Amino acid sequence: MNENNIESLREALKHSPENVPLRHMLAEALLGLNRLEEAEEEYSKLLKMGGDTRAKVGLATVFYKKGSYSACNVILEEVIEKGSGDIQVFVLHARGLLKENEIARAIESYKKVLEIDPKFADDELDSQLRMREQRIVDEDDETDERFLQKPDINFEDVGGMDAVKKEIDLKIIKPALHPELYKAYGKKTGGGIMLYGPPGCGKTFIAKATAGQVNARFVNVSLDDILDMWVGNSEKNLHDIFELARRNTPCVLFIDEIDALGASRSDMKQSSGRHLINQFLQELDGINHSNDGVLIIGATNTPWNLDPAFRRPGRFDRIIFVPPPDEYSRETILRLKLKNKPSGAIDLKNIARKTTNYSGADIDAIIDIAIEQKLEDSFTDGIPQPLETKDLLNAVKKHKPSTQEWFATARNFALFANDSGLYDDILAYLKIKK
Ligand SMILES: Nc1ncnc2c1ncn2[C@@H]1O[C@H](COP(=O)(O)OP(=O)(O)O)[C@@H](O)[C@H]1O
Ligand SMILES: [Mg+2]
Repeated sequence: MNENNIESLREALKHSPENVPLRHMLAEALLGLNRLEEAEEEYSKLLKMGGDTRAKVGLATVFYKKGSYSACNVILEEVIEKGSGDIQVFVLHARGLLKENEIARAIESYKKVLEIDPKFADDELDSQLRMREQRIVDEDDETDERFLQKPDINFEDVGGMDAVKKEIDLKIIKPALHPELYKAYGKKTGGGIMLYGPPGCGKTFIAKATAGQVNARFVNVSLDDILDMWVGNSEKNLHDIFELARRNTPCVLFIDEIDALGASRSDMKQSSGRHLINQFLQELDGINHSNDGVLIIGATNTPWNLDPAFRRPGRFDRIIFVPPPDEYSRETILRLKLKNKPSGAIDLKNIARKTTNYSGADIDAIIDIAIEQKLEDSFTDGIPQPLETKDLLNAVKKHKPSTQEWFATARNFALFANDSGLYDDILAYLKIKK
């Protein structure tokens, strides 16, 4: 397309200004010639005419070329939100994010690109993202901070979960505090525990509280954060995380979303899943590098995808079910969460009774909803009012429990794939007789 074509297109549009395909041609031609102001004008017109994804992506491209990266990203995010799976959208988004130095998100976007087309290659993105991702953890404190925390909660902040607390105490706290005693009884120490259960029921929370309980640091990482599409990088990242933990003992190393190791995941195709599993097992075994002082807690929503090799002694040899809180635990959680909120006398028992199947996270949400409503009311009345029972009960009606979907799946595994009795806890919870 050259300058003359542009003039003819403009001429044609004078006669039929509503011709959308024609205007797209003009806009794209202008964009191709880097006549950005004019292209922007045409795309804006298209958008005013009820423009679609194509117009939005065009405008985002104009912004990208003009160096307005954040405007570009905002538009693309909206397009992606609406469900566009177009590879060009993700490529441009990855570039825009890279310019804004949002490396982790740029990598996410680029992963999408490779999911859609595994053979896609872009030199700039490849070199930039690969180069930076290799530095996910290094000796410098700034990157460490992303994963390393000093927890400010302990077991007292965790409502209910008595069985889980007891297991953690026996399996990892006591052995760490009294290694000689365990040795005297010929009991092996080391290894970790694996928590599983529906989302929002406190797996991450109790892991963090465990660290607080023993005054240790907390290394919190989701396997998803370290998975990399390049062969070898995921293994290196995993090793770096273990090394970070080993440098910061005593600590609790919490590894979330272990299900991301499931070989069926599309982003695992690039990096070979088996290699990563082997690397993981090697790190857990701590043969080359001692794990002394590192308490390892894993979590997964889908334990049935866990490679059996992980369950051998000295690895994740305790698999613990973290159920939704029972009525009494819900009452405790409510009391804990309302402690620092302006509230009157609240009938906690009543609310606990009406929140069967609600997770801890659901209870957080209910309190949030109730408080938001209270805030709104106090703007109209001008007087801040404390929370009352009825506010929370209203909020319960607005927020449905989120644990049921998980049980629909878990139930099947417990019924039909429970050879080693691994899921007896689920059966017991669902009151199903073996
Ligand atoms: N037993 C509990 N006691 C107190 N708060 C809880 C409890 N369980 C969950 N929560 C709250 O719910 C939030 C989400 O829980 P989280 O540990 O992230 O769930 P999971 O890791 O199992 O998906 C926590 O940050 C915490 O505020
Ligand atoms: Mg979690």
